[in-house]
Amino acid sequence: MIKLQQITKTYTLGKRELQVLKGIDLSVEQGELVAIMGPSGSGKTTLLNIIGCLDRPTSGSYHLDGKEVSSLSSAELAAIRAKKVGFVFQTFNLLPRLSALANVELGLKYAGIDDRDLAVEALRRVGLADRANHRPTELSGGEQQRVAIARALVKRPPVILADEPTGNLDSKSGEEILSLLTELHQEQGITLVMITHDPDVARRCQRIIRLKDGLVVSEERT
Ligand SMILES: Nc1ncnc2c1ncn2[C@@H]1O[C@H](COP(=O)(O)OP(=O)(O)OP(=O)(O)O)[C@@H](O)[C@H]1O
Ligand SMILES: [Mg+2]
Repeated sequence: MIKLQQITKTYTLGKRELQVLKGIDLSVEQGELVAIMGPSGSGKTTLLNIIGCLDRPTSGSYHLDGKEVSSLSSAELAAIRAKKVGFVFQTFNLLPRLSALANVELGLKYAGIDDRDLAVEALRRVGLADRANHRPTELSGGEQQRVAIARALVKRPPVILADEPTGNLDSKSGEEILSLLTELHQEQGITLVMITHDPDVARRCQRIIRLKDGLVVSEERT
């Protein structure tokens, strides 16, 4: 499903060049549940953004669902992202002026689908049918993350990428979000790649990939 070969990413800041990814080889099978760990600044988010077609590598090849995507244009990447990838972020990233339901519907609109019933069903699946008309400020952190998960999953993407999805939550809400994600992974056969700093979260995944200074330093099956 995901195959990266010798992926590098270099940022240019004025005259300085900063190589953040230094040659990543990584394969993730369809339906796998994988954790990415590593110190702050090791390149985890940069890597996830490349996997999710939010960003392009500087060099190397990347096949997503069989298609080489490393040198596509921004518009082509956006089209692939809309179909194939759902994102969940540490800070939820909901639109503050929209209701929970409207936020979930946005996940569909980007994929070119207009179907409110699907959005209602996704909210129901994450246990928030009775919060559909609440705005993000009228929801708890855990509830906001549920809305974000509904938004990611409503278009039924083959891949969900989560960047520290429990990082801003207390341990009880974090546990609920983790259970929800692992249930969805099992139920729908979604490929789920999750960045986490929490060893307990990582242990719930099938494989743990550790990054350090822009390189994969270990891979472990749990
Ligand atoms: N757009 C950018 N321009 C320049 N440098 C960047 C950019 N994005 C990230 N970096 C740098 O790349 C390095 C890796 O950043 P990244 O966000 O991938 O780390 P991370 O492993 O996700 O860290 P954290 O655990 O703190 O989230 C950092 O040193 C960061 O300062
Ligand atoms: Mg990060």
